[in-house]
Amino acid sequence: MSVFPVILSQDKFIHRDSLKFPLEERALQFGDGVYEVIRIYNGNYYLLDEHLDRLYRSAEAIKIKLSQSKKELKELLLELLNRNNMVEDAKLYMQVSRGSAPRDHVYPEGVEPNIYAYVQSLPRNLSTLKSGVPVITHRDIRWENCYIKSLNLLPNVMAKQEAKENGCYEAILHRDGHVTECSASNVYLVKDGRIYTHPTTRNILHGCVRMAIERFVLELQIPLIEDAFLIEDIAEADELFLSSSTSEITPVVSVDGRQVGDGKPGTITRKLQAAYEKDANIQENLIANV
Ligand SMILES: Cc1ncc(COP(=O)(O)O)c(C=O)c1O
Repeated sequence: MSVFPVILSQDKFIHRDSLKFPLEERALQFGDGVYEVIRIYNGNYYLLDEHLDRLYRSAEAIKIKLSQSKKELKELLLELLNRNNMVEDAKLYMQVSRGSAPRDHVYPEGVEPNIYAYVQSLPRNLSTLKSGVPVITHRDIRWENCYIKSLNLLPNVMAKQEAKENGCYEAILHRDGHVTECSASNVYLVKDGRIYTHPTTRNILHGCVRMAIERFVLELQIPLIEDAFLIEDIAEADELFLSSSTSEITPVVSVDGRQVGDGKPGTITRKLQAAYEKDANIQENLIANV
């Protein structure tokens, strides 16, 4: 995946090779910062406002005050796509740290946050979107503030690695038997025409694609019940799917080697995938090609 040459650093556009990290950068030393990953289709952001709102919410939760207003940052991010002549499917990674200062756990005073953002090409993964993916289950060992999109991702990284080592795409996380979310996505169970998913408490990230799904189900008149399901419920599920900016809405066809429902992507998942493509203004239609 190639990084496009122009990156945003604070409020300047610079070449990617000229970004310099100071030794004492709080993101590097403490993971003291927040981030966002935003999907780009045909050179346009998808769910940009939702991501920006969440970035400012996450920053506020750990008392980082960005130097730019939301409106200013939005303009910079739009300009970043212009400067890279973006016309393809890609993703933006943006990070905000508390800043650079002599190493001390206590928040430094009078220090400006460090911001950078770059764009990387990312074609849609049509094969997993069509066929679905296998996943594993894994204990959720993360902290109690998972609603903050914090840079501290070691438990997520470890869970995803375990999924990979088991030939799987994702790890479904559970706490006290309740399914919270996945290592890098939200997860939903379908039973008797209803969708169940964990409520948006502090224990999960409120996904931007989930926010879009909350709109789709209203139009499609599919009940979405914000009630955590149990690991045991998966054996009885008709369908299971996950959502994130990079995975879109991906069907889950097996969990820990046991097939979900009839082992194929389900009807409700397909309807939501179609709604997603419409909402994101995606020209090629995945569903028509299944
Ligand atoms: C832990 C976690 N949950 C959920 C999501 C989905 O969020 P979004 O739909 O905003 O990409 C992500 C995305 O990276 C994530 O890391």
